[in-house]
Amino acid sequence: MQIPNYEAARKRSKEQVAIKKFKLDKKYQNLGVQKTYYLKTYGCQMNEHDSENIKGMLKAMDFQETFDMEQADIILLNTCSIRENAHNKAFGMLGRIKHLKALKPNVIVGLCGCMAQEVGVIEEIKKKYRFLNFVFGTHNIDDLPKLLYQSLQNKNLNIEVFSKEGDIVEDIPVNRESKYKAYVNIIYGCDKFCTYCIVPYTRGKQRSRRKEDILKEVKDLVRDGYQEVTLLGQNVNAYGKDLYNDYELADLLLDISKTNIPRIRFLTSHPWDFTDKLIEVIKNHDNILNFVHLPIQSGSNRILKLMGRRYTRELYKELYDKLRMIPNISITTDIIVGFPGETEEDFQDTLDIVNYCKFDSAFTFIYSKRENTPAIRLKDDITITEKEKRLYRLNDLINKYSLETNLKMVGKVYNVLVEGFSNKEGMLFGYTETNKLVNFQGNEAKIGSIQPVKILEAKSFSLDGVAIE
Ligand code: 5AD
Ligand code: SF4
Repeated sequence: MQIPNYEAARKRSKEQVAIKKFKLDKKYQNLGVQKTYYLKTYGCQMNEHDSENIKGMLKAMDFQETFDMEQADIILLNTCSIRENAHNKAFGMLGRIKHLKALKPNVIVGLCGCMAQEVGVIEEIKKKYRFLNFVFGTHNIDDLPKLLYQSLQNKNLNIEVFSKEGDIVEDIPVNRESKYKAYVNIIYGCDKFCTYCIVPYTRGKQRSRRKEDILKEVKDLVRDGYQEVTLLGQNVNAYGKDLYNDYELADLLLDISKTNIPRIRFLTSHPWDFTDKLIEVIKNHDNILNFVHLPIQSGSNRILKLMGRRYTRELYKELYDKLRMIPNISITTDIIVGFPGETEEDFQDTLDIVNYCKFDSAFTFIYSKRENTPAIRLKDDITITEKEKRLYRLNDLINKYSLETNLKMVGKVYNVLVEGFSNKEGMLFGYTETNKLVNFQGNEAKIGSIQPVKILEAKSFSLDGVAIE
């Protein structure tokens, strides 16, 4: 049994991170013959991609996926810690599984992801959810085959969560959701320690993957016909800082651009690490898409300071203006309302910067207290009703600008990577280079390729159109 520990999670060791190669031990290879698994994923793209690796390992062991939890031999929850509602959803699910397990005692249940890294969650599991078979964290997903094997032998709760950052494990099998667009991790962890955020504790120290490993992965994707890669990290533009003296995200993008993959995106950028070189590279390469997700979090300098964001609204605007010089760029953001002590005046500063930036779209959140983060100690005397009101007011403004930017697209033609059939009957769907969802009339033979589409109608969250040709 190995349980998480926040002191170890906070430490940022100077030690070089080791690189391991995944290899499936022979004794695990047939573990899944005639067995099914059900996997539920919560949270961000990082977690979605971890789940693609989990599915890859399960497939390599011969497990079959089922979407019916009640039929499954193995149930896995890949959890998220970022806000309380993600937490509550996972615990709600554990409640359901507890009933199921009473009826089907042989089902094996595992929990992984960010919640597994939380000290309080593990305590709660030990008290109330002892029916779980195994728990593993974000640093050792490659232990899944071993843990499954052990759980099939011995049904007692086994917790294996490490708080010190893990090694980088290459060559974990992957079972991707899409045949056309792929996530590629480039950097793990986060060293920014924003005061509200649990990620630096659940995902550990910033660790860049080696450029040659990333390039090999992208080249393989090109060979397999992929049209788009999204480079992933909590802070993608810190790429390379921990590994190279003179090689940053801009250089990596240049190298990936040379593979001729038609579309390259990268998520998420921190304003602190955004270099002029990166702006130039985005501007000058067609396959590096003109799309930047640049969380601002707040428009108030006082709140930004309390959040530990290390920039001011003025610096953010300066960077924003430079980015807007890139023709047809789309800029999106994240905003938190109701941070402890946020006054109406602070909130007005946020509305003011939204009016200035006119973001293409934004994810907006009410501040959620997270275990062990510094912000939890700040006095938070704003009522939840007031926080909700601020969220609605902010969303109204965000939606107004989303609609405005979308309306400007009506009558013009944009390239859309066609992903499949839309929820709207008889239509296909896909995303523009600037990540706008388009539902359109077109030929299904174009699924998986890039298709010019004329925009006929705009809404706040999507566009309608028709294929051209
Ligand atoms: N409460 C609310 N929102 C949060 N985020 C991160 N931590 C919290 C929290 N404690 C938001 C930030 C971040 C996004 C991924 O989630 O806006 O950019
Ligand atoms: Fe959290 Fe800040 Fe790191 Fe983003 S940059 S993951 S908000 S600590």
